[in-house]
Amino acid sequence: MAGLFSRYLVLALCLIICLTSISSANAAVRRFKWEVKYEYKSQDCVRKLALTINGKTPGPTIRAVRGDTIVVKLNNSLLTENVAIHWHGIRQIGTPWADGTEGVTQCPILAGDTFTYKFVVDRAGTYMYHAHYGMQREAGLYGSLRVALPDGESEPFSYDYDRSIILNDWYHKSAFEQAAGLSSPQFQWVGEPQSLLIQGRGKYLCNSTTLAKDDVCNATSPECARHVIIFVPGKTYRLRIGSLTALSALSFEIEGHNMTVVEADGHYVDPFVVKNLFIYSGETYSVIVKADQDPSRNYWAVSKIVGRESNTTSGLAVINYYPNPRRDPPTIPPTGPKWNDTDARRNFSLSIKSHPKFIQSPPQTSDRVIVLLNTQNEINGIRRWSVNNVSFNLPHTPYLIALKERLGHFDQTPPPDGYDTAKYDIFKVQDNANATSSNAIYRLKFDTVVDLILQNAQTMNKNKNDSETHPWHLHGHDFWVLGYGKGKFNKSSDPQNYNLVNPIMKNTVPVHPFGWTALRFRANNPGTWAFHCHIESHFYMGMGIVLEEGIEKVGKLPSSIMGCGDSKGYRRP
Ligand code: C2O
Ligand code: CU
Repeated sequence: MAGLFSRYLVLALCLIICLTSISSANAAVRRFKWEVKYEYKSQDCVRKLALTINGKTPGPTIRAVRGDTIVVKLNNSLLTENVAIHWHGIRQIGTPWADGTEGVTQCPILAGDTFTYKFVVDRAGTYMYHAHYGMQREAGLYGSLRVALPDGESEPFSYDYDRSIILNDWYHKSAFEQAAGLSSPQFQWVGEPQSLLIQGRGKYLCNSTTLAKDDVCNATSPECARHVIIFVPGKTYRLRIGSLTALSALSFEIEGHNMTVVEADGHYVDPFVVKNLFIYSGETYSVIVKADQDPSRNYWAVSKIVGRESNTTSGLAVINYYPNPRRDPPTIPPTGPKWNDTDARRNFSLSIKSHPKFIQSPPQTSDRVIVLLNTQNEINGIRRWSVNNVSFNLPHTPYLIALKERLGHFDQTPPPDGYDTAKYDIFKVQDNANATSSNAIYRLKFDTVVDLILQNAQTMNKNKNDSETHPWHLHGHDFWVLGYGKGKFNKSSDPQNYNLVNPIMKNTVPVHPFGWTALRFRANNPGTWAFHCHIESHFYMGMGIVLEEGIEKVGKLPSSIMGCGDSKGYRRP
């Protein structure tokens, strides 16, 4: 018996050693040197100060292979502004300090300073990066991060070429001006974007009536020339599509072509075919498209705002069938789906299931259920967004440092795990008189299973039924998407309809108007993690929470993340 056991032990040890040596033999360290600065750009033909990386917006695409270590040496060349960059979709297992979330996992990188991000990309898939400080993301600081499988492994679909596209919306006002408007008593909403960008390019229709007084328009600037994707007839394309809009929910389509959805947020999807892809800020998808249409002409790729009644013109790119000239297609671009067809969008969400060969079964029960009511409020005369009537503020000392090094303070009264479901009518405007703002966080028992239920509700708009779509993004984890429903979540009956068989895992998911979304995850990644609405202005107005798990298991914090709040001048003993 003992002999058998030791033989197994030897076998197991050998297996571990062999496997680790294989992966470390192939894993590469990929080093990048980035300089962040302001430059005049004309992304939609109107000149604007944009945040650039090495002179570009979107910034350089990071390509890596699963298991690689990414090292980004970031030089903050902004003269008067701090910065931080988040690696959206990377779980940062073992490196919670590299998550790039200012106020949660690190102090901001000061103007003139250099900071090095170092982390491992442990799963193949389509990811993104973007600024996570104030409202800087919408000033142009973002890009793609794609992780390939190691040689010898294959994905459950095939294609000839691989292209990354980031969809975005674009404002002519600076992020500063917008932030000031949002946080002042004379509340100034950001409004609809001026343009939609596809891979950083859009076209604003410049004329004397549409152009603001100081705006400079250069309709022939190469910076706003349409983005072109070449299709070689007969070939198959994988388009990796991500959205980093500041506000807008989008529908994306390619004139005359169907798309097969195969990946969502780094997980393989049970393939399904769509004409238009609904995509929310913070989500990524891979779709497979075949260049099988009449090759004698070009086609439009279109992004259109849905979920809000908007006059913003659609974003346009050109699908250029080789070897046609690069010119615009001869047709009027497709107008896309109706903006207010919530059912179509909910059905799309419900269609996304795990690929049968890659199902990671969710735990069948959970240890804790946190219901998160999403509402608009007014607190001390300032318009805010809240969760269970608590509007979130970032502390001066980031939580990771405050908890691990016992420096700095934040509100110790834990925020509520739910709201008064009996009294609160989600369909009506409520006065929410007891709303507060706080920087308190949710502390989770390590390795427990937690359900997060997003509950949508009526906004403060008294004139009409109004409930917005909010894309929620979780840092440090992927969650199982167990269900979407209409109306008020019922704690006893709705869980009976959860998909516990083949749910997709994601890191960003919408909660639809007047509906709910149920998520489950395991709190097994030591650190402090933000969970927030990915709409830039909503998070800025308090729409988020922070979770802590296993803080005692977090390794030694690098002193480079410190220097603000109570960690000023602090050097670890
Ligand atoms: Cu892409 Cu905290 O966000
Ligand atoms: Cu929101």
